[in-house]
Amino acid sequence: MEELFWWIIFPYICGTVLIVATFYRFVFRGKSWTAPSTEIFSRKWLRIASVVFHYGIIFAFIGHVMGMLIPKGFYDSIGVDEHTYHVFAIAGGGVAGLMVVFGLVVMLIRKFSLPRVRTHTSFGDYFTIVLLLLVAGMGTYMTLIYNTTVVSYEYRVSIGPWFRSLFTFNPLSELMLGVPTLFKVHVILAFLLFAAIPFTRLVHMFSFPLRYPTRAPQQYRSRDRYNKNRDNTQ
Ligand code: HEM
Repeated sequence: MEELFWWIIFPYICGTVLIVATFYRFVFRGKSWTAPSTEIFSRKWLRIASVVFHYGIIFAFIGHVMGMLIPKGFYDSIGVDEHTYHVFAIAGGGVAGLMVVFGLVVMLIRKFSLPRVRTHTSFGDYFTIVLLLLVAGMGTYMTLIYNTTVVSYEYRVSIGPWFRSLFTFNPLSELMLGVPTLFKVHVILAFLLFAAIPFTRLVHMFSFPLRYPTRAPQQYRSRDRYNKNRDNTQ
């Protein structure tokens, strides 16, 4: 049952929801394809948290491509042995993970502690940040603690080949049976997050802001000054 549901059916359900719902939102709900910022209510901490988070998630993404999409055989063929690979994965992945977790924690504290930011935060926003924090927090624990205190788990012979086999529609589900539970839960929550992307502001990750540099600057003006000017002219 575990093998069939969690390592074959569930990933394909999440993948299908991600693709179909993202396409639907892009074509039929284009106006909702935004990630409105609450920067106007408090700038300093959002800037720090957002920059650290986004760089961290980009580094973690690169780490996942290196760990999940590039086969172990490639590293063996270029002379990168297991120990060397894991030292770099723990060091690089550890820093990336801590950056992601730091950014998310600051964003969450900001949403809870600033009334005006809280007013502009939807349930979807809280759900996204909490789920991301769970996934990234577990990932960082796996990379920094589990790998250094329990065992340096070689996921490139189990999770990696399984993940790649999903794309060739020949899911090697049996490879996931021996994976430590912590890693299994990380992967399951990650797929849940993939399925949630189309229903949250995470869709902005698919937007390539090509026109950003050339777009007209957005103008913000304070309501008070606007009202004062209006009253003066009447
Ligand atoms: C939204 C999706 C995901 C997020 C935000 C995420 C986040 C993270 C973070 C922050 C780390 C620690 C830093 C690092 O080693 O890169 C990590 C580690 C890890 N993640 Fe993910 N992850 C996601 C999806 C996945 C998926 C889909 C898989 C497998 C199919 C996966 C497998 C792993 C593994 C095996 C590690 C441990 C790496 C190591 O020990 O060196 N992750 N993840």
